[in-house]
Amino acid sequence: MKKILTVGVFDLLHFGHMELFRKAKALGDHLIVAVQDDENVVKFKPGTKLTYNTEQRCYMVASIRYVDEVVVYKNAESIVQEVDFDVFARGPDQTNSSFLAAEKWCAAHQKEVVILPRTEGISTSLIKEILSKKS
Ligand code: CTP
Repeated sequence: MKKILTVGVFDLLHFGHMELFRKAKALGDHLIVAVQDDENVVKFKPGTKLTYNTEQRCYMVASIRYVDEVVVYKNAESIVQEVDFDVFARGPDQTNSSFLAAEKWCAAHQKEVVILPRTEGISTSLIKEILSKKS
């Protein structure tokens, strides 16, 4: 069984996330989605105001049919060492130092890394911006 790992915040779920899950699942048989815990979201993206807490974000992601397993993670470098997987599917925007370290670890441990294209025109930040203008 080919296991795929992808990671993210997944606060306000949207079409781009669904496309990510669909494309990631199509790379193998079992999709593991790692959801970043509240504390580390703020650490990596200072100023981020989350709408949903870690437990709620995990619950939403686990409800999606492409997703087979949900785990909580602190940073990309540590989660690749904690989970059993074959392919690490990341977004083109996931390039901070922790992702670079995760990719190095994957190369040293014969894990494939696939960069999935983002869906244009939608993001959690954009949804928050639109909502804040309406209120
Ligand atoms: N993603 C995507 N297409 C989008 C938005 C996100 O494929 N339009 C992917 C990212 O590349 C990443 C994953 O979804 O692999 C998780 O991204 P996340 O940061 O949770 O979502 P964003 O909508 O990008 O959130 P933000 O605007 O806060 O950065």
